[in-house]
Amino acid sequence: MNDPKETAMTADARREAAVEAALARLDLTAKVALLSGADMWSLPANEEIGLGRLVMSDGPAGVRGEHWTADDPSVALPSPTALAATWDVDLVRRAGRLLAQEARRKGAHVVLAPTVNLHRSPRGGRHFECYSEDPLLTGEIGAALVAGVQDGGVGTTPKHFVANDSETDRYTVDVRVDERTLRELYLAPFEAIVRKAHPWGLMAAYNGVNGRSMSEHDELNNRVLREEWGFDGILVSDWTGARDTVRAALGGLDVAMPGPATVYGEHLVRAVHEGLVPEETVDGLARRVLRLAARVGLLAGAPAAVPAELLPAPIDGEALVRELAARSFVLLRNEGGVLPLDRAPARVALIGAAAAEARIGGGGSAQVFPTRVVSPLDGLRAALGEGTALVHAVGADPRTFLPPAAFPCTAELLGADGHALGTAALPEGGVRWLGALPGGVSFEDLAEVRLTGVLAADADGRHRLAVRGVGRFRLEADGEVLFDGVLLPEGADPAAAFLNPPERRFELDLAAGGRTVVTLTCTLPEAAAVAGFGLVSFTLGHAAPTVSDDELIEQAVAAARAAEVAVVVVGTTEEVESEGVDRAGLRLPGRQDELVARVAAANPRTVVVVNAGAPVLMPWRESVAAVLLAWFPGQQAGEALADVLLGAVEPGGRLPTTCPAEEADSPVWEVAPTDGRLEYTEGLFIGYRAWQRRAGAAPAYWFGAGGGYTDWSYEGMEARFVGDHDTVAEVAVRVRNTGARPGREVVQVYLAPDGVDRTRPDLQLAGFAVVEARPGETVTARVRIPLRAVQTWDTAAHDWAARPGVYTVSAGRHAADRPLTVALDVV
Ligand code: BGC
Repeated sequence: MNDPKETAMTADARREAAVEAALARLDLTAKVALLSGADMWSLPANEEIGLGRLVMSDGPAGVRGEHWTADDPSVALPSPTALAATWDVDLVRRAGRLLAQEARRKGAHVVLAPTVNLHRSPRGGRHFECYSEDPLLTGEIGAALVAGVQDGGVGTTPKHFVANDSETDRYTVDVRVDERTLRELYLAPFEAIVRKAHPWGLMAAYNGVNGRSMSEHDELNNRVLREEWGFDGILVSDWTGARDTVRAALGGLDVAMPGPATVYGEHLVRAVHEGLVPEETVDGLARRVLRLAARVGLLAGAPAAVPAELLPAPIDGEALVRELAARSFVLLRNEGGVLPLDRAPARVALIGAAAAEARIGGGGSAQVFPTRVVSPLDGLRAALGEGTALVHAVGADPRTFLPPAAFPCTAELLGADGHALGTAALPEGGVRWLGALPGGVSFEDLAEVRLTGVLAADADGRHRLAVRGVGRFRLEADGEVLFDGVLLPEGADPAAAFLNPPERRFELDLAAGGRTVVTLTCTLPEAAAVAGFGLVSFTLGHAAPTVSDDELIEQAVAAARAAEVAVVVVGTTEEVESEGVDRAGLRLPGRQDELVARVAAANPRTVVVVNAGAPVLMPWRESVAAVLLAWFPGQQAGEALADVLLGAVEPGGRLPTTCPAEEADSPVWEVAPTDGRLEYTEGLFIGYRAWQRRAGAAPAYWFGAGGGYTDWSYEGMEARFVGDHDTVAEVAVRVRNTGARPGREVVQVYLAPDGVDRTRPDLQLAGFAVVEARPGETVTARVRIPLRAVQTWDTAAHDWAARPGVYTVSAGRHAADRPLTVALDVV
């Protein structure tokens, strides 16, 4: 057989030759045509050179495909914070392979993921979508995800390059950050991913950095990313993020999305003719698009990067999502070993709105329609069996918007004169069409969408109906007009109509047994014209009669009192954690804190499950028996929760980010720019690096914290200096499982420079490894420490500088619990 390395080289060379041959056959207009979206999600085909249509799709927690409708569902994975909480690169690589499998199933060639901006402030609206406050952990997890997706022959675009760490004014904000901080923190995960996993794409951020928009940043895009790191993939704009033809082309932006109208096209052709952009520059952009197409198998005559026979074996998506979720759950407190629960408690009170309707993912472009959802209620009911009485009480419903009506609806798509263009059956009262319409109807022809459903009242009482969206709406119940008017978006974010639309509510008194025909008509183009591309998005909300908030809490307390154990699922809402907005605060919305305190007072065996993608305040944390952070767990939420609560699986997660006890303690709170600028004045000191320096103040839970169902003792450690081109040391840490159950431990290795240097963090994560052991068994975790851990960025020399000296290597369970230390002499 051929040497596999040789074969790979030959394939690369053949692919490059095919790319050059294709490029040589294109005139300027044809080259430029490759650089703009043909539509919302794809790049155009070119039959003459055997180039296929290339489809991109969001995103990090599931692959949506080109349609965003419930009849085209996707496997919904846990939130990226959850993936990072596993600290397990092999597991995350498998998650990447699942994304590739989903992409192939949906006809997508590139997945717009992972999101590797940092948790600079806990208020970041897309916190749930990023991995960690630590650049090393982010880089390792991100590289594993990219490797997994690309194993499946599908491209990735780590995003958003760079410094898109919060959402406020994200289109316009100019992030001011010093060179050293940029290198050591915000660029570091991108660098690690590019060098390690060679992504075939990258997405430029909307924001600017130090005065230059990222889609035009010659220095960072061309010098750093391409020349210094050797990136050879495409740099795609964030959607609608390319603003200036010449600056984008010269600034290294290969592709402007979405299309067809972009700053490239005829504008770029003209700029070349006018001598503003050299044609060789366009060649460079087009070459990279062709290379991407070749890698994913869309260019005739070019071998795909992964030949069909080497694609990974099929993955059972639901099983993997269940495994990922359980492995991501972080057990923060477990007093008296209340967890795992006895196999069959006689009576369990399951409390919380999210217990019946889990929040499986955060809001915005990362959202997918799941193939199905197993709620905590479904999951526990199935796992507990008939011997246990499982009682559910809502307790407190934190949602500020009414959920989509839970009855099936028909959507009629109507033309300008009211004639029918098509219909679509919807499982509930929500329309979300982005880029494409059902039945291939075109956005140009569409004038109105009329949604009709039948509301059947089970009991007498006051129902609430809601219209949520942007545009002109008319709401009717049995022909009576409840609303006829226009709803306008709040704020200036062009995606607000889609991400955070306003709501209007109406009340309707109905008698039990009554059936009411509800019709909601949305008149375009107001709703469709958002950000210049096709979009229809609105919700018909409904809530059945309910008791008062006080009564809901009383019911929950009574249920808890009568049960052996109370499980309270609390969480954030769509309004709190979503793309497009930052969080106003970290408190759980609504009366959930009060609910937990009341339930805990009624039942000492209260387990709180936190269903949130990012840190929340937990003022009751010391007075409940157990706290389990479940993140946004993906579609198998309830199965994973049952696995962990009942002990079939150990909770495997560790915090990828520090949880503050109070909002005011957060090292970085301000996320709103002043005069268009957001100053990263804290420099290198975010997350645990900042907490580490504070005398007397401690967070609620440190970076790295979390436990399983067994105990570990840290027995010994050796660190061996290596000092080659990328590894400074190899560390071996011996840990013993001292408990009664088999278990897994995330062994974390930190590094501290000797002596006092206020310009450097006192401590930083330098490596980690996951180990497993049976009761009584001792195992060794082997951790490689990258050279970068003992280098700092020298701003004067514009280069990395070695920092020799004596370092303290420590190993342990989290950033503030490191029982083992040794000295390492770095020469
Ligand atoms: C988001 C990107 C996303 C894109 C396409 C943008 O608003 O910032 O992360 O990939 O939309 O949905």
